[in-house]
Amino acid sequence: MSTNVVLIPGDGIGPEVAVATQRVLDAAGADLKWTIRHAGEAALLAGEKSLLPQSTIDLISEYGVALKGPCTTPIGTGFRSVNVSLRKCLDLFAAIRPIRSMAGVKSRYSEVDLVIVRENTEGLYGGIESEIAKGVCTSTKVATEAASRRIADYAFRYCRERSRRKLSVFHKANILKLTDGLFIRCAREIHDAHYPDIEYEEVIIDAGCMKMVQDPKRFDVILAENLYGDIMSDLCAGLVGGLGVTPGSNIGEKGAVFEAVHGSAPDIAGKGIANPLALIMSGVMMLNWLSTQRGEPKFGACATRIRRAYDRALTDGATTRDLGGSLNTLEFADAIIARL
Ligand code: NAI
Repeated sequence: MSTNVVLIPGDGIGPEVAVATQRVLDAAGADLKWTIRHAGEAALLAGEKSLLPQSTIDLISEYGVALKGPCTTPIGTGFRSVNVSLRKCLDLFAAIRPIRSMAGVKSRYSEVDLVIVRENTEGLYGGIESEIAKGVCTSTKVATEAASRRIADYAFRYCRERSRRKLSVFHKANILKLTDGLFIRCAREIHDAHYPDIEYEEVIIDAGCMKMVQDPKRFDVILAENLYGDIMSDLCAGLVGGLGVTPGSNIGEKGAVFEAVHGSAPDIAGKGIANPLALIMSGVMMLNWLSTQRGEPKFGACATRIRRAYDRALTDGATTRDLGGSLNTLEFADAIIARL
């Protein structure tokens, strides 16, 4: 029987990379039954009254899994982020972003193999802001013990299950003594009580960024609160070839939404040239998650086939423009399909 998955094409390059991803997963025999639901500006264009329609949230809750393209968020004015709202209302508390060097992708470093675990529900990212007097604005950073302990436990468990040796928590607790102070205290306590076998370090984020670009191989799993995790994700993407090759997932206790780290890329939207690989890799993460969650090894086997096929495509020099090649979005998907 086919497995139900919600597909949210999103905005900008979203529909282009979503079609390519759907094509690859179907050709690999993933046996998924896709139901399209909209979010973002695409929802309004489709005649919905809200940027995040209740029907989209309800179907993700019912199926427990979605693959999502990026949604545009206006800068400085306008509506709140649809992405933030979706993560909050489905309580998708952990964002997992693997950052890996890939054969065939030219980048500044080789042999990078990191995972960012980002707290996905709190921090400054809640966008709780006000103008308290004319010309004076404030933003409220929220850290709770419950959310800090939950993400720390998730990150250490991730390390143990995947045989990862070390967890580095990035913070600014020298300045943000209460919020970041709470975040690292929770991580330290969870480590000492339950995961003493995993190497643990606390890294002040400014120096951590320098260390990261000097020698990314000294890091393994990075734990960070919401905003730092967001910024570190793009920084680390730049170490291994860019946003076109950086997948991600948003995991909750009742379900998961898989999406690339990149945004809607308005500068190249509508041209058919976006690299779909980051969303295809997110699709592979989704298949591996389905394999574990639903106890169905067929998904894992399918994920492995797709991974091998895109590795082969890249080493054969079949790449999109962001990686120095000449293939367009669908040609690259077809290059993967030809190697399945
Ligand atoms: P962006 O990630 O969309 O683009 C940054 C740069 O990377 C651009 O030059 C773009 O062309 C390039 N790029 C991104 N993905 C690419 C791909 N797959 N293939 C080739 N090149 C790619 O970031 P930007 O421009 O800051 O944000 C644009 C919009 O996306 C904003 O409204 C932002 O809020 C939203 N956004 C949404 C996210 C989500 O839905 N999860 C995540 C990040 C940003």
